[in-house]
Amino acid sequence: MKKPLIFLTGIILLAGLSSLKRGYKTPLYKDEHAPIKQRVEDLLKRMTLDEKMMQLSQYTFGLNDNPNNIEREKSTLDPRVGSLIYFGNDPVLRNEIQKRAIEETRLGIPILFGFDIIHGCKTLFPIPLATGCSFDTALARKASEIAARESYLSGINWTFSPMINIARDPRWGRISEGYGEDPYTTSMFAIASVKGYQGNKNIIDSLHIAATLKHYIAYGLSEGGRDYTYTDVSRQALWETYLPAFKAGVDAGAKTVMSSFNDISGTPATINKYLLTDVLKNDWGFKGFVVSDWDAIAQLMAQGVAKDSMACAQKALMAGTDMDMLDGIYERNLKELLKEHRVTMQRMDDAVRRILTVKFQLGLFDHPYTPVIPASQRYLQPYARTIASKLAAESMVLLKNKKNILPIPSSIKSIAVIGPMVKDSFDLMGAWRGRADVKEVSSIYTALQEEFNGKISLHYAKGCDFDSKDKSDFDSAIQAAKISDEVILFLGEKNGWSGENASRSNISLPKVQEDLIKAIKEKTGKPVILVLNNGRPLALANIEPDVNAILEAWQPGTLGASAIAGILSGRINPSGKLDVTFPLTTGQIPVFYDMRQSARPQSGIYQDLGTNDPMYWFGYGLTYTTYHFGKVKLSATSIKKKQQLIATVHVTNTGTRDGEETVLWYISHPEATISRPQKELKHFQKLGIKAGQTVTYKFVINPKAVLAYPNDKGEPILEAGDYYLMVGNQKLRFELRN
Ligand code: BGC
Repeated sequence: MKKPLIFLTGIILLAGLSSLKRGYKTPLYKDEHAPIKQRVEDLLKRMTLDEKMMQLSQYTFGLNDNPNNIEREKSTLDPRVGSLIYFGNDPVLRNEIQKRAIEETRLGIPILFGFDIIHGCKTLFPIPLATGCSFDTALARKASEIAARESYLSGINWTFSPMINIARDPRWGRISEGYGEDPYTTSMFAIASVKGYQGNKNIIDSLHIAATLKHYIAYGLSEGGRDYTYTDVSRQALWETYLPAFKAGVDAGAKTVMSSFNDISGTPATINKYLLTDVLKNDWGFKGFVVSDWDAIAQLMAQGVAKDSMACAQKALMAGTDMDMLDGIYERNLKELLKEHRVTMQRMDDAVRRILTVKFQLGLFDHPYTPVIPASQRYLQPYARTIASKLAAESMVLLKNKKNILPIPSSIKSIAVIGPMVKDSFDLMGAWRGRADVKEVSSIYTALQEEFNGKISLHYAKGCDFDSKDKSDFDSAIQAAKISDEVILFLGEKNGWSGENASRSNISLPKVQEDLIKAIKEKTGKPVILVLNNGRPLALANIEPDVNAILEAWQPGTLGASAIAGILSGRINPSGKLDVTFPLTTGQIPVFYDMRQSARPQSGIYQDLGTNDPMYWFGYGLTYTTYHFGKVKLSATSIKKKQQLIATVHVTNTGTRDGEETVLWYISHPEATISRPQKELKHFQKLGIKAGQTVTYKFVINPKAVLAYPNDKGEPILEAGDYYLMVGNQKLRFELRN
């Protein structure tokens, strides 16, 4: 009986000794099996003030890629830095820097490498504004997953994406980076994007990266559409329009949030304690960290709320901005601020804790290095190309198709392909190009040649530049048109005309492009098809009557040109619908589908426009087939607040081509305590419907989720009364009872 007891005691002793030994050699924070919370606390306890300040700082690396400068940067960089924006694309170089952090610093805390992967890393997907038009969140999620994999293998563990700022002013260049004007659509794409980047799990595996919800918040409301300016936004608007997509992204598990540049009604986002701490961290329980925007903490001086960099650092940290992007203001000032009791150690620790937690969740402590595989296996893999091509096709919106001029019939033997976009791959890429190279993007001309494969001859002329006074090539364009059966004009915007710091005061096509359309129409009388590549809605009223068809192809990314060619030829049936309204003129801005009803809806019309309608509303888009909507069925016409209402509609593809149709379900609440928009999108569903087939679309109305709206404190209000459900051209009344 005694022997086993001695044996057992021996084992326990040995285990104790070995754990003691382990405890001595390996601090708890390095134990990959210990819970993250404990690892964070253990590490935090060991950190000096300087080390903490460094964790709160983010710098760039590789911005200047001259080999000599990189070498210098590599050796002079302080490896204790919390994060780097990594401008290089070499995982080996990235690992060398990481090695310095792991091996040359006292605690070996890994660096978090971030970058702007906005719509793809190497494989570029369409710009987000285009992606929103696909209404295909499953596909968008796959795109983010691919972007995550390519980024991870490039040495990036964190992307500053998705941008989910609701934008209703197309003058603002950054409208291209988001999913349009609608809070619900943006929320759905926010979720898809976060899940695509991060995967489903809390601990991010090696094929995924951390996402950033940006820019928090109401940045899309910048005055006059000018970038970085003041935003005057009511609490009501914050809660019903600007906050929901961020809430959706937080609930989806986004690890980080970026505060925006703008001053929100007197309190810049960077120091907005109400939004950063009270709402985001306390009410919503956001456990990740907030990074400032580029140099935004220092810019508080320009915004007139801080007199020096000490005040900037104090206000930003205490309001809830955890990491300082680029300006070094935390690193330089926090020690002094602590001494003067202007910031608290508790707040600093909270910020460090949040950053360390994300690093642990990313697995950076246990696997700090990026696996190095050949570039040929990292990027542009067949699956990535398939998804990019499908998303490009689904995001394009057919805006006009008079007498079904598209798709191009087999009787057409020659086409004039005219415009500055025809042979220009660069401007198909859109702002924020990740690691993509223009050489990987095929031009529209090449794609058309491949598509028609000699069956249609192409007569090319550039016609004009994007924007210039030079019309000397108009003649050759007219000549090309004259000898062709049909004319396709490829016009639009250059890359740099949208994106950050790229607003336009006039969103029409530049005059020279409009003149080219008119010249061709007048001098040849040939039918004209207009294909547009641009990063914002355009005001097309001047030229819409002159063209027979318009395809909005946006900036569609690496595989975009072949999607354009496929839609023109009929290989692809267009299915995109606008996620943003196209105004008639720039002066009509703002115009968006979920405006409040005017006191006199039939009046208040601009005298020179004669209508309050825009050119194309949100949700608009044509296809090559036809759909018939059956009568919408409601499971009841009156429900209690705790009951559900189920709406269904049968949709039949009555044409001869297979298609994909998105059904958009809107709600209106015409008698509310706080006035509601004329209608609000509450659900959408995209399904494939084969020619002749009927499919059923369904919308489950859960009153709390669908019919409640927030007041200016964010508290939900659910009111009994009449509601309307709108789908296609049907409008059905139902009642909500207490
Ligand atoms: C932009 C952000 C971007 C950051 C880092 C800023 O100027 O506003 O959207 O993530 O730079 O590149």
